[in-house]
Amino acid sequence: MKLFDVYPVYDIDLQRAEGAWLWDTEGNKYLDMYGGHAVISIGHTHPHYVKTISEQLSRIGFYSNSVIIGLQHTLAEKLGELSGKTDYQLFLCNSGAEANENAMKLASFHTGRSKIIAFTGAFHGRTSLAVAATDNPKIVAPVNETDHVIFSPMNDVEALEKVFEQHPDEIAGVIVEGIQGVAGIVPATSEFLRAIRSLCDRYGAVYIADAVQCGCGRTGKYYSHDWAGVNADIYSMAKGIANGFPIGAISIAPHIAPKYGMLGTTFGGNHLACAAAIAVTDVICEENLMENAALLGQYLIDELRKIPEVKEVRGRGMMIGIELPFDTASLRKRMLFDEHVFVSGSGNKNTVRILPPLNLTREQADIFLTSFRKQLADSEL
Ligand SMILES: Cc1ncc(COP(=O)(O)O)c(C=O)c1O
Repeated sequence: MKLFDVYPVYDIDLQRAEGAWLWDTEGNKYLDMYGGHAVISIGHTHPHYVKTISEQLSRIGFYSNSVIIGLQHTLAEKLGELSGKTDYQLFLCNSGAEANENAMKLASFHTGRSKIIAFTGAFHGRTSLAVAATDNPKIVAPVNETDHVIFSPMNDVEALEKVFEQHPDEIAGVIVEGIQGVAGIVPATSEFLRAIRSLCDRYGAVYIADAVQCGCGRTGKYYSHDWAGVNADIYSMAKGIANGFPIGAISIAPHIAPKYGMLGTTFGGNHLACAAAIAVTDVICEENLMENAALLGQYLIDELRKIPEVKEVRGRGMMIGIELPFDTASLRKRMLFDEHVFVSGSGNKNTVRILPPLNLTREQADIFLTSFRKQLADSEL
């Protein structure tokens, strides 16, 4: 059997990793400024993470949600503390798309309504409603097409007000990334997030914060949405929450009541997944990684803004978009093969995206900056 060929891949086979460093099977060493798409939060093979998962696996790796899984309660407590939302409720699943799917489903159950508002540039995943709420017709199959999702322009408060006015009793929820990742690092303005909060309150809709890419401390606060100073009703998480162990989660405000059978999953919240997420939460706290992400991110942003060829730098913390006046495909390839630095592209061809581990060091940031400046100087403008 061969692989179903859906991914354009680089000819690199990774064998080993540590912190922000990667090694391939040929012995080449790379700096990871991409984190496998924002997944690596506490660095590769962190000793506490490896020890916690290994020990858990030797005790019990899996049982289904038909028994008490004490580790789920421990994780809920720790995530509540770390995110500052101690009165929220945790539901665990397996991926970002599944987290968003459950968040929107829950909004619909809670309100008894069937329409979701999403925004231009949004990416929420590939399951049926998550992909319908994603602004990319190429990945929406005919079976996913639905008139339950209404798209409104990102960061346009007036347009959003109009959608609510036109559908006053139909909107179950509004789903928004605090910083759009796939679109090329497009931050939601604080004004926009506050308007979503007040419109959801006025019309009885659920505010869903997609924190799959911009959450888990990446921007210096646990949820990037927190920078706007308002609470969402549901936060969806995945990627960085367990540093590569597959897990998704939603954190649900206390006014949304659960009912048996309303949501469910076989694998979600298993012992091993919880142990992985607990280890990540502990490391983020003990090593002050949110603070490091904020400080080092600001350093990177300030340094990148000094480069004359750079048109714009967007984002916060370890989630940065660098806008250049040309298609960045060749530059990114040279960063990888000539400089041995992983960076990412995005839906915006002119934007380089960096999503490094939250414990990146100043020395590693400087290695990135030096190689980026060098390759930029060699680019044909
Ligand atoms: C903002 C956002 N939401 C949801 C998802 C989907 O997550 P997953 O690939 O784990 O299903 C992604 C993945 O890139 C994402 O960036």
